[in-house]
Amino acid sequence: MRHLLDTKTLSREDALRILDVAEDMADTQQREVKKLPTLRGKTVVNLFFEDSTRTRISFEAAAKRLSADVINFSAKGSSVSKGESLQDTAQTLQAMGADAVVIRHGASGAPRTLATSGWITAGVVNAGDGTHEHPTQALLDAYTIRKRSFGADSRGRDLAGLTVTIVGDILHSRVARSNVWLLDTLGARVTLVAPPTLIPHDISAWPVQVHYDLDEAIAEGPDALMMLRIQLERMGAAYFPTEREYSRRWGLDARRLAALGADSMVMHPGPMNRGLEISAEAADSARSTVLEQVANGVSVRMAALYLLLAGAEPNEHTTVRTQG
Ligand code: CP
Repeated sequence: MRHLLDTKTLSREDALRILDVAEDMADTQQREVKKLPTLRGKTVVNLFFEDSTRTRISFEAAAKRLSADVINFSAKGSSVSKGESLQDTAQTLQAMGADAVVIRHGASGAPRTLATSGWITAGVVNAGDGTHEHPTQALLDAYTIRKRSFGADSRGRDLAGLTVTIVGDILHSRVARSNVWLLDTLGARVTLVAPPTLIPHDISAWPVQVHYDLDEAIAEGPDALMMLRIQLERMGAAYFPTEREYSRRWGLDARRLAALGADSMVMHPGPMNRGLEISAEAADSARSTVLEQVANGVSVRMAALYLLLAGAEPNEHTTVRTQG
């Protein structure tokens, strides 16, 4: 795998390969083999033009657990504020020896530009670009759904037969887009729920069913209910229901949590607006996978970096070698 730019073009075989290698990575962590020598001598650059807590830190942890060197770059406080371009910034970091660049950028398509422009030779991983995609988030979500649903029998399985309902600000969500494409590739049925103003105009081309009523969607008994953050910072001119109305009609409160099937999981990619799209009761309930998603994110990002940098083709048999 040369780059990881999206899930829309990720094959079922490659997606399952990443999830299965992530299982191997999680196993090594559980055996308290905290550090693998696999990427010794490689350098991973975290190139973040937008804020992040989970993604940046988990890529850093993932790279370090594979013994790679990590350079963290944040646009704030850098020469980007003096007008330096993406090309010059990336080439500066490549000159410092980057083997992989993990990029988050506000412009949809920035990671693909970096991967295809010829500016750098490093592998590129999309860590979230504008409203386009956030592929490693979708992979860690799929990993979490698979693990909760099938436990020790997860390896090699897709998500056929499962229903995932994604609720909230679909319009601005790269997480929703990456999840829709990946879940469809893995055979899950996807339902979206949102106010009409937060549904994208091209929704008829998406492989989803759309609901406007959250109670109706919950009554269908989804296996996973994924609540999305309302992206107030990207709302612009879009009509948005008042926060009180949004919370009443599309928020996951105690009543809706009780109506959800006992085996349904409650997901959220974070960061959460507690009290708006999700109540504290739902976020902290036993059915919530919020912190599991964060933990699984390290294993999935280890798998992505490993497949990018250790030279293994997705179709090859690859052994994850542990030290000690
Ligand atoms: N889920 C997610 O991408 O979180 P961060 O913005 O904190 O990285």
